Amino acid sequence: MAISKTIRPGLIQLRVLDLDETLNFYKTVVGLDEVGRTSDGRVMLKTYDEFDHHSVVLRKADEAGLDYVAFKVVSPEVLEELKVATEEFGYPVKVAEDEQPGYGKRYAFMLPTGHCIQLYAEVELAADIPMLRNPDPWKEEPRGMRAQRFDHLLCYGPNIAEAERYFIEVLGMYAPEVCNTEDGKRFATWLTGGNKAHDIAFVEYDKPGKMHHFAFYLQDWNDIGHAADLIGKYRVKRDVGPTRHAITRGQTIYFFEPSGNRIETYAGGYAAYPDNPQRVWDVAEVGRGLFYYEGELIPSFLEVVS
Ligand SMILES: [Fe+2]
Repeated sequence: MAISKTIRPGLIQLRVLDLDETLNFYKTVVGLDEVGRTSDGRVMLKTYDEFDHHSVVLRKADEAGLDYVAFKVVSPEVLEELKVATEEFGYPVKVAEDEQPGYGKRYAFMLPTGHCIQLYAEVELAADIPMLRNPDPWKEEPRGMRAQRFDHLLCYGPNIAEAERYFIEVLGMYAPEVCNTEDGKRFATWLTGGNKAHDIAFVEYDKPGKMHHFAFYLQDWNDIGHAADLIGKYRVKRDVGPTRHAITRGQTIYFFEPSGNRIETYAGGYAAYPDNPQRVWDVAEVGRGLFYYEGELIPSFLEVVS
């Protein structure tokens, strides 16, 4: 039984500059598997531990950033209900027409933050899924940073209070943690539809449609250290960490892939429940909330987005 009407953010499409160089990075350093290519040349990828056809798509473009993120919902019936509810909330909905092999119908709409969100109910299993019968943790020893799944993303844009209201009122998600300005306005929100501490987060920002980072889940703190070793070995542009968040309590390291999209590798984090009280941060303390060991904000973290 799902906690909300959504199961997970299951698909993210990113714009990248040099497709070959960036693809090689995701395969070699992050450890993703290439699933195939669409007829227009986009590359589909997945982690070794994901069941769905693919979870990450790279599209060659002149500017890096986020095309869209898609949430899997609990059933085709709920998908149709959510289409109507989204339109009633005030967001025009259309059927996504770009090819995504293995995926059923996807509905797409824009948030007031400038981000395209999609909803879908059906996706085929990948040809190569994790073991099901007497399963080992993996079939083949994972490569690179040993990314286990596409976990969450952080979006920057205006009107995040309204976006938060959409995710809660329409999708049935909840916000285990929020951050408010001194005059009580929402500065940041962390939203989930399950027991993960967050599926998607927003920070209030004047420019629409920006992506701060998207994240892959790693096994534990040891794998965060291993990711840091690879960042050293491959001379990856590191941003912050290894460190720990007070917000969500995750362990983390941030770095940039060759096109300039920021990636987080994330482990731990608390189990969220919708009936637990909400944790609230004052904006003056958010630096410590984000970077618990450093105890203060790191300027690049607020200023660099794609
Ligand atoms: Fe994150």
